[in-house]
Amino acid sequence: MRIILNIWRQKNASSPGKMVRYELDNVNEHMSFLEMLDVLNEELTRRGEDPVTFEHDCREGICGCCGFMINGIPHGPERGTTVCQLHMRHFRDGEELWLEPFRAKAFPVIKDLMVDRSAFDRIISSGGYISINTGSAPEANSIPVKKQDADRAMDAAACIGCGACVAACPNASASLFVAAKIAHLGLLPQGEPERDRRAIRMVLKMTDEGFGYCTNTGECEAICPKGVKIENIARMHRDFTRAVALFREEAKVGGTG
Ligand code: SF4
Ligand code: FES
Repeated sequence: MRIILNIWRQKNASSPGKMVRYELDNVNEHMSFLEMLDVLNEELTRRGEDPVTFEHDCREGICGCCGFMINGIPHGPERGTTVCQLHMRHFRDGEELWLEPFRAKAFPVIKDLMVDRSAFDRIISSGGYISINTGSAPEANSIPVKKQDADRAMDAAACIGCGACVAACPNASASLFVAAKIAHLGLLPQGEPERDRRAIRMVLKMTDEGFGYCTNTGECEAICPKGVKIENIARMHRDFTRAVALFREEAKVGGTG
């Protein structure tokens, strides 16, 4: 099949970028979107031109590396699909597509379609972990967890940190990502002792990194390739508000002796 690509080419964060048009005549409908870009890059390399930079690793929808805008949609038009799992059969012969990097102040462009998402790593480092050594996998029933909580934690743990929620949000908020990480740990007994501190640190770090505020537009949930639910954001706000109140009370007690 034939595909026309308009791809954002940008040398680095400080250079201006522009759309460059490419035409591919030999696209197999069974190729994944990234395999189609591999074909383009082989062609560009043969012609002595600079190949298009895009990020990828697992190509199985689990690492969260890939992800850019296809016709203004993070990860493209198929719901619940990462760009590495998107196949060319979902496009028409002769279709024209526009490929751009995720747009957010906190995700500066590294090159072409690749952005720097290390702000996510810094948010995780600020509190998205359990400090104690929890040892090897325990017997399934040695620490009872309510089925409802285990299911919610598992659903939140599905977040692969791709950043599509940020790119889809008109405020470039990272709330769905941060909320998923907070819920995943906070719903399990091992994560409970640090729940308050974790919520405060991660929410403050998110703002610090330049992400916007959540205004409940719901674009994040609609676009998330892993179906992470916006209810996690409500939970994050509850945890954060409760934690701030608790720490304020503690500070008061400390202050008055
Ligand atoms: S919440 Fe969804 S869209 Fe956001 S980073 Fe996680 S997997 Fe990606
Ligand atoms: S390359 Fe790993 S999720 Fe797409």
